[in-house]
Amino acid sequence: MPGKTVVLGVAGGIAAYKACELLRLLQKQGMDVYVVMTRNACRFVAPLTFETLSGHPVAVDTFERPATWEVEHIALAKRADLFLIAPATANVIGKMACGIADDMLTTTVMATRAPVMIAPAMNTGMWENPATQQNIAALKARGVHVVAPATGHLACGDSGAGKLEDVQVIAGRAVQVLMRKRDMEGLRVMVTAGPTREALDPVRYISNRSSGKLGYAIARAAAQRGPQVALLTGPVAIEPPPGVHVVRFTTTQELLECAEAHVAGQDIVIQSAAPADYRAKTVAPRKIKKRDGEDMVLTLVENPDVAAALGEGKRADQTFVGFAAETNDVLEHAQAKMEKKRLDMIVANDVTAPGAGFDVDTNIVTLITRAGMTALPLLSKDEVAERILTAALALRARA
Ligand code: CTP
Repeated sequence: MPGKTVVLGVAGGIAAYKACELLRLLQKQGMDVYVVMTRNACRFVAPLTFETLSGHPVAVDTFERPATWEVEHIALAKRADLFLIAPATANVIGKMACGIADDMLTTTVMATRAPVMIAPAMNTGMWENPATQQNIAALKARGVHVVAPATGHLACGDSGAGKLEDVQVIAGRAVQVLMRKRDMEGLRVMVTAGPTREALDPVRYISNRSSGKLGYAIARAAAQRGPQVALLTGPVAIEPPPGVHVVRFTTTQELLECAEAHVAGQDIVIQSAAPADYRAKTVAPRKIKKRDGEDMVLTLVENPDVAAALGEGKRADQTFVGFAAETNDVLEHAQAKMEKKRLDMIVANDVTAPGAGFDVDTNIVTLITRAGMTALPLLSKDEVAERILTAALALRARA
């Protein structure tokens, strides 16, 4: 990573001493490291240590030097290719999530346009506190990379999650982010995500367990690689990633309409949505009342197959990717769907496998194209997203 500059933010936790080793590891990769410390961090490690290791002055929350402060935090923010905060305390995470900038570290990170990565470290109770978890979720939704803390014996005597992740792992993640190529610049990508809802009456609907997590991860990963991204989303509980054009749908019919309106301008179309295959033949205008003792029969009619409909109009310069969530004969079913829907690639997964399926943060998938299959190991949904995009680009390069 020669020529890359990392601004290393050190917050006030006992794991601050590990930031010295982290700084060394980053330097070994050729990075130039500047350190910003909070006032409390200086109680754990003297700025002189970081100054000596980094070869640069350490920026601290010193209002005693108001003449340089204003300039310095902006200069550092601009200099960063990556802004890495390790350890990130509950307090700093909370401030970042709320947009509070009241010291050198929080001001500088707010001013930066570089990718931001945080490696939290704190007591288990603090880590698991809903306030921290909500703050982490908010930061992730804004594109902040989070290196989740490890589980183990903590300095406070507790055992549990909250230990700063191994510095080797943090340095590895930093390299990954810095190496991220803008290899989708100039392209237009459409991603569909989440379930649909098919109304039965004004208060009830048929839906499925799709969380939209993978689709959102794909949209987020794509946006960081440079293209224009349109995210067509069903009703889900996650914040859309920054920088993507969001279009919302509720029913399969609505998804079809908005997909058809957007598809012509797209280079890559990734259909991870889980549209309901059926809808109620009639939607009751009023709430359906319970019929004591009597069975209820619903008549369902088939919904359009959105992927198949888009496949009909697919141009040779477009790359279409679909998904097949299966419970049995996964690869056979997936291959058949790829042909039927005229997809260039289908991502097959067995939703019954541990670590795969709904509402988890990992997945085990096989990427199937006409050239062959690639079975991926258990990976985070973020990593699966990256692999899908890389495979889609490879298909375009081959075409
Ligand atoms: N799909 C679609 N429209 C539908 C159903 C599915 O566009 N009405 C798309 C999904 O977005 C996904 C792919 O088709 O990319 C496969 O979805 P899946 O539900 O696995 O396939 P189905 O064709 O519905 O087959 P089945 O439910 O019988 O397994």
